[in-house]
Amino acid sequence: MNFINLPRIRLAHLPTPLQELPRLAKVLNGPRIYVKRDDLTGLAFGGNKTRKLEYLMGEAVRQGADYIVTGAGFHSNWCTQTAAAARKLGMKVALVKTGPKDGYDPEGYDGNHLLHFLSGAEIKTVKPEHAQRVEEETMETLKAAGHRPYRLMATGSTPLGVAGHVNCMLELMAQIVDRGLKVDYLVQATGSGGTQAGLIIGAKAFNTQIKVIGSTTGSRSRENAVENVGNIIDETLRVLGFNLEITADDIVVHDQYAGEGYGFMTEAKAEAIKILAETEGLFLDPVYTSSAMACLIDLCRKGFFRREDVIVFFHTGGTAALFPYKALLKAYEYGKKFPWIIPPWHPSTLEG
Ligand SMILES: Cc1ncc(COP(=O)(O)O)c(C=O)c1O
Repeated sequence: MNFINLPRIRLAHLPTPLQELPRLAKVLNGPRIYVKRDDLTGLAFGGNKTRKLEYLMGEAVRQGADYIVTGAGFHSNWCTQTAAAARKLGMKVALVKTGPKDGYDPEGYDGNHLLHFLSGAEIKTVKPEHAQRVEEETMETLKAAGHRPYRLMATGSTPLGVAGHVNCMLELMAQIVDRGLKVDYLVQATGSGGTQAGLIIGAKAFNTQIKVIGSTTGSRSRENAVENVGNIIDETLRVLGFNLEITADDIVVHDQYAGEGYGFMTEAKAEAIKILAETEGLFLDPVYTSSAMACLIDLCRKGFFRREDVIVFFHTGGTAALFPYKALLKAYEYGKKFPWIIPPWHPSTLEG
């Protein structure tokens, strides 16, 4: 495979805007801050998955798929974007999602789960330990019924998906050069690691000198996240035929802003959401972008950045997830204790 000839279907409105955040910079009394608006990729409320899906769905179409099978967490942005991409391309979609028990089905539908439901996806919610088996069985059942199902790994951090973010760095470079900027750091949320892997490869390949800083979004330790991003980089370089040397020193990850588990809330994340909404009219999500912004804010407060630095905050979307967190965000606003820290749809909440 070669980066230039990869199968690709256009799903995103590109280039996404690069906007300055002067009021945020003033409040933080820090360096110049820009935001790369990948929350505006346009597909299903936008987000970083659209860039991955351009390549992943390109391959699915090339193989003649008529059904997409994938899975992830109950309020997954990946599932939302994948379901929308599949529908837009005339395919059906089956989602195997993880929840606190098999068949979990809350009374009220909200956030991403509502979007999954509206897109007409066939939804099965199971305990995490059953997810792989149920995905495999779904593939077999669809094949037996004469379909051509295509299975996508959750969150799309395979070399094809990563190519979307190599491409994103190329796009960002063009915007930076156009404005005569020199960017020192890019700050982003790191989950499965494909986004950071692609941006780091792009930053190296196009010799940008931008240091990519990731902030974790689950219970992964810094060491584990660095190793994971490193493995994805190695595989992508090999599969896409890049001849670059990238070492662990090129992979910067902070693990103290996510909370104690995936989707858990913290005061720093709630504060980040409020500050951005109040200073710039920009909405972050409670799982990913708020962790990245909490990291950026903390690094500013600690004096990590020099005043002359230029920072790009990478807004990776996910804002549909704000709504299921409404009670928590209201509690934060009124200075009360959070009504829950572990989300009710999280697998650790119920037994059986
Ligand atoms: C909104 C949002 N931001 C960031 C990420 C992290 O991307 P990656 O899994 O490529 O690290 C995700 C992944 O699910 C996401 O949904």
